[in-house]
Amino acid sequence: MDSILVKGNGPLSGQIPISGAKNTCLKLMTAALLSDEPLTLTNVPRLSDIKTLGALLESLGCEVALLQDGRVMALSAGEITNRKADYEMVRKLRASFNVLGPLVARAGEAVVSLPGGCAIGARKVDLHLMALEKLGAKLDLNEGYVHASAPNGLKGAVIEFPFVTVGGTENALTAATLAKGTTVIKNAAREPDTVDLAKCLSSMGAKISGAGTSEITIEGVDRLHGATHEVIPDRIELGTFMCAPAIAGGEIELIGGRRELLSAFCDKLEATGIAIEDTALGLKVSNTGGRATAVDVETAPFPGFATDLQAQMMAHLCTASGVSVLNETIFENRFMHAPELIRMGAKIDVQGGIAKVTGVEKLKGAQVMATDLRASVSLILAGLAAEGETLVSRVYHLDRGYERIEEKLGAVGASIERVKG
Ligand code: EPZ
Repeated sequence: MDSILVKGNGPLSGQIPISGAKNTCLKLMTAALLSDEPLTLTNVPRLSDIKTLGALLESLGCEVALLQDGRVMALSAGEITNRKADYEMVRKLRASFNVLGPLVARAGEAVVSLPGGCAIGARKVDLHLMALEKLGAKLDLNEGYVHASAPNGLKGAVIEFPFVTVGGTENALTAATLAKGTTVIKNAAREPDTVDLAKCLSSMGAKISGAGTSEITIEGVDRLHGATHEVIPDRIELGTFMCAPAIAGGEIELIGGRRELLSAFCDKLEATGIAIEDTALGLKVSNTGGRATAVDVETAPFPGFATDLQAQMMAHLCTASGVSVLNETIFENRFMHAPELIRMGAKIDVQGGIAKVTGVEKLKGAQVMATDLRASVSLILAGLAAEGETLVSRVYHLDRGYERIEEKLGAVGASIERVKG
């Protein structure tokens, strides 16, 4: 298994291009199942998760072609030839569960494996199921699979989520596009990913209003047609790389970055003493020296501080002056990076969903590993300013969500290399 070796190497400088958003692209790909005409996605990130979902879609009868060096994906679900998403596929990638809504809406039937638990929390799918039941699907849970059927089609309904679920909103949204009548999703996710999905569905002929607010209304249509859609920039990759100069010093321009994709995160980063400037090409982040200042962070659904940036922010706060309190409100087990950062010399006390970080002057390199994507990348970031070498193992987590991370950070002066294992 490959590892990544990072050495503290002084301030960073240069530009990093931001790739298309993984979590957006995955949901856009599921939309291809809704139409017998082709959906073409551009600005596709070259990541293993994208390939995994591509393979699942192929198993359902959707043709998937990667063009232009993997940047463009053509999907064509002329006919759904299989309605079953296997455990082996869904286990590897939870976002696979989002084929459920499109499959049952288009084919009238779907058999999708329940995803099971996950390193960052239980991650139930009860709200996805509640939404589909409201839309009239008959559900049966059997041997680890959800059997959903709606032989006469889905029917519009009012779906009210008790709390925000991104995946649940997106499963309901895609399914409702082909339901008869009007669907109203209340307490809907407002994430940019969900808004981009609604935009893509609209260009396929769906009638959607209110995306980006907490109430989305969908007027069902008989069929959707083909479209071409550009995936938005990855705001989590953007926030991750914004932490790099914050931690290691220097100045980096993030090409394609936009503040409105992560304004709560930008506000907090600025509060630690980091400067962020809009440029013609994206966002420039500067750390002109001096120690960062501690801040308190509470994760929340969009437009709040993204849980997917909590680990990276913690890596930054490990060397800030003062005490920072991080409150993780979305997932119950999302501090797996803390014990690893402690091995690098950080002072962190975790009690349930709250982590108290007392800043130290400097971290020290160590051999570390993490069990999820964002935790892994926080260790690389910490290594950028640590004394000595940091070896991050289980790199396959990183390859799921960061495109060529060692090349992107290497290009701005970081000492980072992949060690084949
Ligand atoms: C999406 O996961 C993202 N994944 C996650 O990114 C992200 O952390 C999360 O949204 C929150 O922003 C993708 O888009 C592929 P949720 P999702 O449904 O949709 C609970 C990353 O690192 N819940 O908004 O699964 C759930 O357990 C990943 O890229 C239920 O209880 O998240 C969690 O506590 C990790 N029942 C909370 O809701 C349900 O039916 C929010 O989850 C659904 C969710």
